[in-house]
Amino acid sequence: MAEIIDGKKISQELKDDVKKEVEALKAKGIEPALAVILVGQDPASTVYVNNKKKACEYTGIKSLSYELPESTTEEELLGLIDKLNTDDACDGILVQLPLPKHINEDKVIKRISPDKDVDGFHPESVGRLSLGERGFKSCTPAGVIELLKRSNTEIDGKHAVVVGRSNIVGKPMAMLLLRENATVTVCHSHTPDLRAITKQADILVVAIGQPKFIDGSFVKEGATVIDVGIHRLEGKKLCGDVDYESAEKVASKITPVPGGVGPMTIAELMNNCKEAAEMHAGLR
Ligand code: GUN
Repeated sequence: MAEIIDGKKISQELKDDVKKEVEALKAKGIEPALAVILVGQDPASTVYVNNKKKACEYTGIKSLSYELPESTTEEELLGLIDKLNTDDACDGILVQLPLPKHINEDKVIKRISPDKDVDGFHPESVGRLSLGERGFKSCTPAGVIELLKRSNTEIDGKHAVVVGRSNIVGKPMAMLLLRENATVTVCHSHTPDLRAITKQADILVVAIGQPKFIDGSFVKEGATVIDVGIHRLEGKKLCGDVDYESAEKVASKITPVPGGVGPMTIAELMNNCKEAAEMHAGLR
């Protein structure tokens, strides 16, 4: 039986670390603040945004909430971003995705100042990550690295296989693992004989968006398996991209769904907000 990497517990530890650091900043008169922008009323996005606001409250970060109607124009949204970009009372800007179809997401992401890009989606943030320079790290892959480190999983010199090449997870994940001195292989839907490659992984990170796609036959004996996927099955039960029951028989460590990678994303967002406030105060 594999050891469970407890994302709920580890994310709580990270949020508690951020909370302490925010308290120390406030003692110096620095109040970190995050602008949270939601356009429309998509139910899943509303839940995510509320969870982000709750995490702000817990860690002592001020949340500036902008709940805009579905009818908001691209110009209006870009205008708000311009205003927040130059507002010293705002350290981070988060625009919840997806946006309504009439708004160009790419244009919106690029309009956020890289200094306030706490999601780490701006091309400058992505470029900095690739170059190993300091900048905001995309929250989910940063959360995966934190899960590995805080569960004492060696990354240096290990073969990490990332399944999935999205801009939000797969690509930045590969860059962060490389930064930790892993040998990294990225696989995707055009990879022939996927199993032959995943079977070589000491660390297997799965982010393909297909329920239970990776079962135990894809896993090397003793590997660490990180499941980034989340799906709601009929009957409401949640599952990941990994078939947990069969994979955990082969792996030595594994993240569950729910309670694995999911809670880490928000904790990393809080950490990015705290770092943004430090940066704006000239402390880093
Ligand atoms: N929608 C789903 N995940 C995310 C995220 O991490 N950030 C933003 N801004 N929108 C999302």
